[in-house]
Amino acid sequence: MVRCGRSSPARSSHPANHNQQNTGGSRDGRVLLVDPKPKKGLASQFFDGVEKLIVKLMHGSKQPNQYLSGLFAPVDEETPPQPNLPVKGHLPEGLNGELLMVGPNPKFMPVAGYHWFDGDGMVHGLHIKDGNASYVSRYVRTSRLKQEEYFGGAKFVKIGDLEGLFGLSMASNTSLTYHHGKLLVHGEMDKLYVLKVLEDGDVQTLGVLDYDKQLEHPVTAHPKIDSFTGEMFTFGCHFTPPYCTYRVISKDGFMHDPMPITLSGPTLMHDFAITKNFNFVTGEPVLAFDATKKALFGILPRYSTDEHNIRWFELPSCFIFHNVNAWEDGDEVVLITCRIIKLDLHADPLLGKQNFEVGGNIKGIFNLEPGKFCGDTIFFSREPGMTSEEDDGYLIFFVYDENTGKSVVNVIDAKTMSSDPVAVVELPRRVTFGLHQFFLTEVSF
Ligand SMILES: [Fe+2]
Repeated sequence: MVRCGRSSPARSSHPANHNQQNTGGSRDGRVLLVDPKPKKGLASQFFDGVEKLIVKLMHGSKQPNQYLSGLFAPVDEETPPQPNLPVKGHLPEGLNGELLMVGPNPKFMPVAGYHWFDGDGMVHGLHIKDGNASYVSRYVRTSRLKQEEYFGGAKFVKIGDLEGLFGLSMASNTSLTYHHGKLLVHGEMDKLYVLKVLEDGDVQTLGVLDYDKQLEHPVTAHPKIDSFTGEMFTFGCHFTPPYCTYRVISKDGFMHDPMPITLSGPTLMHDFAITKNFNFVTGEPVLAFDATKKALFGILPRYSTDEHNIRWFELPSCFIFHNVNAWEDGDEVVLITCRIIKLDLHADPLLGKQNFEVGGNIKGIFNLEPGKFCGDTIFFSREPGMTSEEDDGYLIFFVYDENTGKSVVNVIDAKTMSSDPVAVVELPRRVTFGLHQFFLTEVSF
């Protein structure tokens, strides 16, 4: 847990009615069709050949592609909606909508190496309606995927190809959010793609959202939405100074002017946290993780337009992928976070994962049987609104069984954490281990 004093008063801020004051922003909600124009000319083939040669030389010794086998192994094709799935137990009343999980699923074999973050985004959807469930999987139809489909093979240099350097292309494969009537799918370095869930649960890629050309940099996989104001707060990291850019998008889709966050070099800032008045940001450069350097995090007034208003703090060396919670407590701002002491993007993904130590105020643990794995989970409240107890609801998550090669969706009681699931939905296809989940209620289809 990190506690800090509040920063000094902001030198400047958005006015209270900041929706109307910013002349450089955009409230354009148009979604742009994805229509790349790949070229097959001689020059294109020449440069492509040189690039492939460089990539193969850089990749060096053959390493096992642990992200292409076992629970990470990609599925061969999309699955159209498969209705009336077998359900053990019962799907709770009121649980109507679509559980969505997005993760990497490369359509084409890599040029040389492969990293989990490289794969084309595939969305797995479990559509639930009045106790019945159906399953679908669809690719996020990005510009990169469409171009590689045109050529019939991998074309873009990726993280795995460069063994530790960031690739030139990352896909929208990481997380999902819903803002201003749009289901958004995020990648760390890709454009912002818009999806749509249809009545039968099928998932379509509508196109790209760029807020009328105002958004010209990537955005984080974890923007934050204030459920009281409806605003979305986000930032994007990039390879050129200032290396990070902060953005505020109003409830009605108005994108405010960018605010630079000048860092000492390129960074991977995957997550941040918001309180009523502040944002937590991190700033540790991680293209080459250096355990001798201190980690950096800062507190930014929510509507600041001047990066000098960020108050920076140092932590012992670590990397922060995800935060847990943040709030204001009198004159202090509190952050609960997860510190990784040493980041290695190429480490064995499962090494040591069976031996997590848990502590604190743990009320129950749901143990999966040996050989079964789950990732992200979604909490679904039994009662809508904010009057019920915060654990009165269900945890929902995809489970992959390494022993059988099959996948299910578990619905468990979050309050009791009983080892006996409320419902287990059997899926018709194996589901590749994904990154993040989201539950879209049916009123948002
Ligand atoms: Fe994440």
